[in-house]
Amino acid sequence: MENLKKMVGVKAAEFVKDGMIVGLGTGSTAAFFVEELGRRVAEESLQIVGVTTSNVTSAQARELGIPLKSIDEVDFVDVTVDGADEIDAQLNGIKGGGAALLMEKIVATYSRDYIWIVDASKMSETLGTFKVPVEVVPYGAGQVFRKFEQAGYAPTWRENADGSRLLTDMQHYIIDLHIDKITEPEKLARKLDLTVGVVEHGLFNNMVKKVIVGGADGVDILTK
Ligand code: A5P
Repeated sequence: MENLKKMVGVKAAEFVKDGMIVGLGTGSTAAFFVEELGRRVAEESLQIVGVTTSNVTSAQARELGIPLKSIDEVDFVDVTVDGADEIDAQLNGIKGGGAALLMEKIVATYSRDYIWIVDASKMSETLGTFKVPVEVVPYGAGQVFRKFEQAGYAPTWRENADGSRLLTDMQHYIIDLHIDKITEPEKLARKLDLTVGVVEHGLFNNMVKKVIVGGADGVDILTK
């Protein structure tokens, strides 16, 4: 699995050229992409500026010597490369397994090109295998949780290893929704968008332009 993640991470780095502003995703697959960019910065004098999607990725990029700017310091991002947790046949996706969905969605929104890198196990016909993460403001989060229970979404709080409630980089909670088959991801996204207290959710519908999938037979590039 690690070699598939590396394969797609290195492949995605081919889309990065000198002078670009590059969105750096979060997660174990995106980390291979960032690592490859760091190598090219060091060995090939690649000139780029990174815009990160989490504190973890910022730390990795700094360590590798990739110059960084915040999303507010750039006019736009040329290309963002990120992982995903599940992708359906229409290339809608669920993200946020690493709790970085809010920053990931903001950076993706201001990117001219947006690429996901995944191993083949992330592809499915219909979304729903992976839980939908919803980032909520702590104030009133219990009310939002109850609302999700009543809607039949079987919510659970995202927790740290010690059982305490996880706080995101943006200081919010995450509630994971267990919805078996998400046949209409846009309808669900609208519902979540309209829920007071919800900051953002992990449904990334109609956002990605390319998906680089690593499998036993090599790399496959799906385009939208
Ligand atoms: C981070 O919040 C997520 O959206 C990640 O991009 C996603 O969980 C994929 O992570 P892996 O590459 O580690 O599976």
